[in-house]
Amino acid sequence: MPGIKPLNAALGAQITDIDLNTELSAEQVQFVRDAFHEHIVLLFRGQDLDPAAQMRFTEIFGEVKGHPLKTRRTVDGFPGVLIIENQPGKPGARNDYWHSDISHSPQPPLGSILHAKVVPEGKGDTMFCNMYAAWESLSDGMRDMLDGMKAWHDGAATMARNNNEQNDGLEIREVPPPHLHPVARTHPETGRKALFVNPHFVTHFEDMTAAESRPLIDFLEKHSGRHENIYRHSWRAGDVLMWDNRAAMHYAVLDYTPEDRRLMHRTTAAGDTPY
Ligand code: OGA
Ligand code: MN
Repeated sequence: MPGIKPLNAALGAQITDIDLNTELSAEQVQFVRDAFHEHIVLLFRGQDLDPAAQMRFTEIFGEVKGHPLKTRRTVDGFPGVLIIENQPGKPGARNDYWHSDISHSPQPPLGSILHAKVVPEGKGDTMFCNMYAAWESLSDGMRDMLDGMKAWHDGAATMARNNNEQNDGLEIREVPPPHLHPVARTHPETGRKALFVNPHFVTHFEDMTAAESRPLIDFLEKHSGRHENIYRHSWRAGDVLMWDNRAAMHYAVLDYTPEDRRLMHRTTAAGDTPY
């Protein structure tokens, strides 16, 4: 059986003694699945997955689909494997804001997997925060107010990023309409409630203006991103790191320059309609 070691007290665990290149046994799959639901972020070090193997591993959790906005180049023959790359002349499209991947879609991915191929040593960390804890640590009064509220999630933020900045993001012509999702989301596997508001895609709350909503979105961002609610990952080449988009936000720290080569392969596992 694999081993498990929590990454810190906020969230995350490292799984050891497992080679994701081999076909996992039913027991191994159950171990990883249980760990994922308990710890939100899972780290596997020293892996070497080709795109087909990364797809196979991701499909244990859900179908691998391409990005609905076709934001990035993909590996030849693998439209579901996105290339997240930073290099001279072509800086990577930034992700230095708290977000949950593709939350603007009607059925956002349940989780995402990044496999680090090349990393600039000591730079380009990714932070994760625990959205169960964010929800549970709000006051009763705030939770009573937020429970039952909905928020609009809009992919226009991604279009603006790709089109207005010079980066490796592909030009986006059209964005599907925004979607309303519950502010407090029930995790379909654990049954726990998690705060599901991210400052990147959420524009406003249902039946409220953007100006009225902004102070609350800002407060929830600050509350979720408190230092003690974060695991900050320092990448090594060979890392496979997966996170639960239903119970975490993430933030890619942009403390490197285009000269610092960074290359990741990203897959996402399809999720269901938030409730
Ligand atoms: C992503 C993302 C973070 C990173 O691919 O969804 O946010 O550190 N990436 O590259
Ligand atoms: Mn992301």
